[in-house]
Amino acid sequence: MNASLDLQSASQRIPGNFGASHGQEPVLTAHDISITYEVEPPVHAVKNVSLTLHRGEILGLAGESGCGKSTLAYGLNQLLKPPALLRSGDVTFHDQGGTDIDVVGLEGDALRAFRWDKISMVFQGAMNSLNPVITVRAQLFDVFTTHRPGMSKKEKEERSQELLRQVGVDPSRLDSYAHQLSGGMRQRVMIAMALALNPQVMIMDEPTTALDVVVQRGILRELMRLRETFGFAVIFITHDLPLLLEISDRIAVMLRGEIVELNSAANIYARPQHEYTQRLLGSFPSLTGDRGAFIRTGEAI
Ligand SMILES: Nc1ncnc2c1ncn2[C@@H]1O[C@H](COP(=O)(O)OP(=O)(O)O)[C@@H](O)[C@H]1O
Ligand SMILES: [Mg+2]
Repeated sequence: MNASLDLQSASQRIPGNFGASHGQEPVLTAHDISITYEVEPPVHAVKNVSLTLHRGEILGLAGESGCGKSTLAYGLNQLLKPPALLRSGDVTFHDQGGTDIDVVGLEGDALRAFRWDKISMVFQGAMNSLNPVITVRAQLFDVFTTHRPGMSKKEKEERSQELLRQVGVDPSRLDSYAHQLSGGMRQRVMIAMALALNPQVMIMDEPTTALDVVVQRGILRELMRLRETFGFAVIFITHDLPLLLEISDRIAVMLRGEIVELNSAANIYARPQHEYTQRLLGSFPSLTGDRGAFIRTGEAI
């Protein structure tokens, strides 16, 4: 297969993101995050990571398996569980109203109220993380019951239908169980659940990795459209750098627990600074040609 052609045709299906300008207003700031798994010997999974997520942007987080992407994502959302330990650092969520929230300091009810409402997450392996014994409707209703206790049954039903429509799934699927849905549909339902409370940030951990390429494209296109409509910011995690080049505003490249490069997608593509990024780019054949041409013409990617 000619990978270059493949990327070009991909660009016709996903609205390109190069040149898209999103504000510089931060929605989430992480400073000097270090996370260790307290096992013997300890695993230093995340080392002194700092990053800023801007309102409405898609920040790609790339890096090979085991480099610490998921651990960092859990740290950003105060989801770490032993033996994982946050050794240092702070995470600040800059809420829409102007209030700053110290995410690391949250616990109990305050943490429960924060999670999913402000930052939602599509977990790695989410395709298999729907509850198999209750319907899609019951799972969406659970989110509302927990976070929006005032909502009536009718409102929940209407909102659930609306959410499925937004992710391109027929509302009749509210009656389905996970095993009755295709992999792509399950992933769309997970995205609907992540959208349910209108979060300002969505963290997606390898959301489409297990999917067929065509299905993946469809879902990503939907995600880009939803982001345009609702303005949430996304941290999109994958080991697939070519995919990130297509959808991200900026990309952070992670290597052995550290962010070794963080730049606009266009710069990562045209002028990768770190040797590891260069290697990642060099490892797919479409980029061995004239790199600049793709970006100048606005085609491909
Ligand atoms: N529960 C755990 N106990 C010990 N080490 C872990 C645990 N979970 C992850 N790790 C280690 O932490 C490092 C980072 O893992 P992870 O964040 O899952 O990487 P990625 O998401 O980039 O694949 C890896 O070396 C992994 O083996
Ligand atoms: Mg992971």
